[in-house]
Amino acid sequence: MTGELSPIDKAKFVAAKRAAALVEDGMRVGLGTGSTAAWLVRCLGEMVCDEGLKITAVPTSTRTAELAREVGIHVTSLDEAKWLDLTIDGADEFDTDLNLIKGGGGALLQEKIVATASDQMVVIADAGKEVEHLGAFPLPIEVIPFGWQTSQALIEETLVSMDVLGRSATLRMNGDAPFVTDEGNHILDLHLNRIGNARQLALVVNQIPGVVENGLFIDICDTVIIGHGDGNVEVRDINEGTVEREKLDFVESDNLFSDLSE
Ligand code: 5RP
Repeated sequence: MTGELSPIDKAKFVAAKRAAALVEDGMRVGLGTGSTAAWLVRCLGEMVCDEGLKITAVPTSTRTAELAREVGIHVTSLDEAKWLDLTIDGADEFDTDLNLIKGGGGALLQEKIVATASDQMVVIADAGKEVEHLGAFPLPIEVIPFGWQTSQALIEETLVSMDVLGRSATLRMNGDAPFVTDEGNHILDLHLNRIGNARQLALVVNQIPGVVENGLFIDICDTVIIGHGDGNVEVRDINEGTVEREKLDFVESDNLFSDLSE
């Protein structure tokens, strides 16, 4: 129930609810990963079940695929869908140009492929995700398990000539074992504190052998929907240069607010 939600969850929920209103019958929609994206999946599930919304959805992780199926959304693969009308996903950080850091949930590879294969990417986030400069959130880099320590050393060496304030990389863990992505890879989190030139960093890091993809999303996001705990949402469209504000009501719904596992 919304009454039990924290302000941050309310912020995530209203951002997701506003984004769900962009989804139209017949659309092919990419579904992001994380706690904000999980709200979106729940909202869409409700629209599918209660309003008969018909969409083809491409999830960006096994977690999202499971949740989508659970709430009644028809899920398919990206290769089946081929191209998407819209992808809606969360982010760990976004700047004024709507460049992003993603991958806090470890799904950055599928998320980047799916967002890139979409006419539009909409990011949904609480206001705390907005930053002046990317980099306070550790930048996730997906690396193959073979020789990951060598890849780590090469990344740290490369960072010496990059415009960043920190240079250490840590292997993401899941308890006592290295975290494993849906593709069977590991994640190195780069503690950069501040990224001066995100575009350059994204290109250079991907040249290092062993690196599969990085969590910088440059020129991929079109719109950000920022949610606030009081129900206010702000929709910023980078292409149109528009900013719209509105207030959403919280509607009690047992289906939507029960047992969210994210
Ligand atoms: C997963 C992601 C998420 O979108 C990001 O971590 C934000 O998550 P949340 O909505 O839980 O704050 O990139 O790989």
